[in-house]
Amino acid sequence: MNIHIFDSQEKLNEAGARIIIGTVQMKQRAVLGLATGSTPTGIYEEIVREYNRGLVSFSKTTTFNLDEYVGLPIGHPESYRVYMQQHLFNFIDLPPDQIHIPNGSLEDTSVECKRYDERLAESGQIDLQLLGIGHNGHIGFNEPNHALLRETHTVTLREETRQANARYFKSMDDVPTQAITMGMGAIMKAKTIMLVVRGADKAEIVHKALTGLITTEIPASLLQTHPSLVVLMDAEAGRLFQS
Ligand code: PGA
Repeated sequence: MNIHIFDSQEKLNEAGARIIIGTVQMKQRAVLGLATGSTPTGIYEEIVREYNRGLVSFSKTTTFNLDEYVGLPIGHPESYRVYMQQHLFNFIDLPPDQIHIPNGSLEDTSVECKRYDERLAESGQIDLQLLGIGHNGHIGFNEPNHALLRETHTVTLREETRQANARYFKSMDDVPTQAITMGMGAIMKAKTIMLVVRGADKAEIVHKALTGLITTEIPASLLQTHPSLVVLMDAEAGRLFQS
C-alpha cells in the first residue's frame, strides 16, 4: 500500500490526474474505472486542463463507471451519467461508445447488471480503478453487509448513504433508494486501485479501513489485500496516519 498525504487540494488533484494520465499514456488501450461524488471532481478538472494543453488523448481509452442510481430517467441532472458528462466526458476526446455506465432507468436492472459484467469481461482487466470511500466504508455502492457480491448488482442504499447524497437532491424523498453497482470482483481485479479521500469527516473510516480488521462490514477494508493500492489523502483525511 502506497499512502500519500497532501497539504493542499491542488497538489492532491495534480497527483491524481498524473496517475490517471500516466496510465492512459503508457497503455495503448487503457481501461479506466471511474467514480463520481464530490471526491474526484478536482482530479477531473485537472485532467481537462492537461487535455487542453495537448498532453493526453483518450481516443483509445475505455471507461467503466462504478455505479448509477436506479429509477432516475436518462438525463436527470443528478444521474451519474450526467455528472460524468459535466465533469469530464464533455471536455475530452473519449469516444461515446467507449464509455460504460450502468443504465439505472431500465425496468429490469438484473438484465443490465449482467450486460455490464459482460462488457467488463470483454474489456479484460481494469488498468486503474479510481475509488472514493463512503462514511460507512462503502466503495462504489458496495454497502457494509455480512457478505459482499462479486458481480455487478442492484443494491438497496443504506439510510446513511441516502442522507450523505441528499445534499444533491431537492428533498430526502427524491434520493433514490436503489443503485446498480459494480461488485467487489471487478474492483479487486483492477491492476491498480487509486483510493482518494478528502476531509476530516473521513479520517476515522479510512484509518479503520486501511489499518483495522478486514471485514465485509467495512467494504474498503478489503483493499488492504490488493497488491497495488495507491491512497491519496488530504491532510484532514490523513490525520490519523500522521500521528
Ligand atoms: P463523496 O462520496 O465523494 O461524495 O464523499 C464518496 C462515496 O460515497 O464513495
